[in-house]
Order: sequence, then structure tokens, then C-alpha cells
Amino acid sequence: MTRQQAVEETIARRRRQVNDAIDEDLPLADPERLYEASRYLLEAGGKRLRPTILLLSAEALADIAPDMHDYRRFPAVDGHTVDVMAAAVSIEIIQSFTLIHDDIMDDDDVRRGVPAVHREYDLSTAILAGDTLYSKAFENILRTGAPADRSVRALSELATTCTEICEGQSLDIEFEKRDEVTTEEYLEMVELKTAVLYAAAASIPAVLLGYDDAVEPLHSYGLDVGRAFQIQDDLLDLTTPTEKLGKQRGSDLVEGKRTLITVHARQQGVDVDNLVDTESVEAVSEAEIDVAVEKLEEAGSIEFARSTARDLVQSGKDHLETLPDNEAHDLLEDIADYLIEREY
Ligand code: IPE
Ligand code: IPE
Ligand code: MG
Ligand code: MG
Ligand code: MG
Repeated sequence: MTRQQAVEETIARRRRQVNDAIDEDLPLADPERLYEASRYLLEAGGKRLRPTILLLSAEALADIAPDMHDYRRFPAVDGHTVDVMAAAVSIEIIQSFTLIHDDIMDDDDVRRGVPAVHREYDLSTAILAGDTLYSKAFENILRTGAPADRSVRALSELATTCTEICEGQSLDIEFEKRDEVTTEEYLEMVELKTAVLYAAAASIPAVLLGYDDAVEPLHSYGLDVGRAFQIQDDLLDLTTPTEKLGKQRGSDLVEGKRTLITVHARQQGVDVDNLVDTESVEAVSEAEIDVAVEKLEEAGSIEFARSTARDLVQSGKDHLETLPDNEAHDLLEDIADYLIEREY
């Protein structure tokens, strides 16, 4: 088994556990249409990368051999038992909420290989489904059984994270209309829209289990690998076919998104706003995207993005130094590499 296969296996096992827990924690209720729409994307798939990182972080801290324990019972520093999985479910529910609203904002029709929620249902239902998931995540993170002070800290971190995601999404949209966006501004934007959820996933187990010294390093790990993850997401938008990606290839080019690739290309003199002529993402052809990608490659922008992501992953791994030396720690390092090696 290659290292990449081992990481994929690690993720797949936790994905199954997370999916079971989502079924338990987010049952269908009335009105049925609202709850069906809320669960629709969760059931459509998704890699479950963030809850996997959350569980690995808990396993590393509690020094538990991966896969050798009841995933709903993690020992805390003071003898409490904490249902860390309830927090993992919260993180994935937040992820789904942001995707539902993101597809409305980005005018995207395909998500996780199926029609986006606002296409499968309607706009009002999609907004409400997102809102429902958003509040359910806060209900769930209070069900871990952690002592009240630690539960409140975890909830507070989740709330701050959600505020920051909104700030990042707001910048993402604002940047579409701006000609000049710097690399630093891009990195700040993706820290907010994407990396903070990775930081919450990695550090919340330390809060819930009472490993106070590990909160900061795990948070920093999440911020670094989360930004690298978003750079890879931007690259995959250019390179991975729609069927494999589960979302429309070339969407960022059509929408005029400022990605690290186009920010760099513009600095090299590429006319990034006219890389594709087609104005709708359904109409843009693979050939048109291929030509755009060639220009971005010639400008060195693809390599620039890849090397920036690699540096961030290395920096992220370095933050784990003070964590116990165990299998879950190694897997947190391997998953960091995977975030920028993945093809979808
Ligand atoms: C997509 O995240 C949203 C971004 C922040 C780029 P993922 O690529 O992790 O999406 P799922 O959860 O696997 O569908
Ligand atoms: C999404 O960024 C970030 C959030 C969902 C908060 P993107 O807009 O790049 O995500 P995709 O490519 O649609 O998944
Ligand atoms: Mg999007
Ligand atoms: Mg977006
Ligand atoms: Mg994207």
C-alpha cells in the first residue's frame, strides 16, 4: 500500500464513522422538505476531510491507537469521557452549510456530483437549509459531555470561526470586482473563508479534552494546511474534469474569481479577465479551459501556486512538533500532504 492509499484508507474509515454519527445526530424532522434539503448534500457525499482531522487530532492528544476505540468516548485529561464525534459532526454540518450558501453566491449548479441545493429545491429552501444546518451545528457541539467551561470555549471558537468564514466569503466576492489583489490579500481571504474551519477542526479536540497547551499549535497547523487546501482547490478548478471533481471545472475562471493562480498571472502581465470568453459555466468547453491553463502554466502561475501550497504544508506540519509522537500524529502529517496531492 502506498502512503497516499494509506491516507485514503484512514479518511475512508473515519468517513464511515462520521456518516453514521450524522445519521444519529441529524434525524429527519418536520417540516420534512426542510430537513430533506438540509441532509441532501450531506448524503450526496463529500470527503469529510475536516472531521477526519478533528478525530485524528483527538486520537493524537489522547494517545489512542487509531481505529481501536469507541469513537464516541474519548478520555479527557481529567478522567471525563468526551464525545468528540459530536464536535466532528458539527464541523461537517458547518461545512455543508457553507457549501449550500457558497453555491448560491458563486452561481454554481453542481456540488458533490449532484445538483446544488438551490437547483434541486429552490432558493428559499436552500437559504433555510443552510440556516438550519448552521444552528444545528451549535446545538450539537454542546452534546459532547465535556465540562461546561470547555464546552463553552469550543462553542465560542466555532462561533468565531463562522463569523470569519462570512468575512472571508465577503472578501472573495469583493475581490471579483477588483483589478488588483495582492498575494497577501489572497492569503488573508482564504485564511478566513477556508482555513479557519480547518483550524477549528484541529484545535477543538484540544479544548474539549483539556489539552490547553496543544490548542494554539493545532490551530496554527489548521490555518496553514487549510490555506494550502484552498490553493489546491483553486488548482483543481482548472485541472480536474467536472465528473471527477463533482463540481463544474473552470467555474472560477468564468466567475472571475481571484485565485492565487490568477493573482500571480496578472502580476506577470496575463489578461486574466479574458482567459475565457464564455460567460456561463455550463457553456464553457474543456478545450477553452485547456487553453487558459496553458497560458497560466507559461506564466509560471501554476508552479507558483503549487510551491506556495507546499511551503504552507511544511509550516503546518512543523506546528505539530510538540504533540505526542504516535500513529495519529503521523497521520496528521500525512493528511497535510494529501490535501495538496489529492486530485479531487
Ligand atoms: C470545498 O471543500 C469547499 C472549499 C473550502 C474549497 P471540500 O473540497 O472539502 O468539499 P467536500 O466536503 O469534500 O464536498
Ligand atoms: C469556498 O470556496 C469556501 C467556502 C465554502 C466557505 P470555493 O468557492 O472555492 O469552494 P468551491 O470550489 O465552490 O467548493
Ligand atoms: Mg464556490
Ligand atoms: Mg466561493
Ligand atoms: Mg473552489
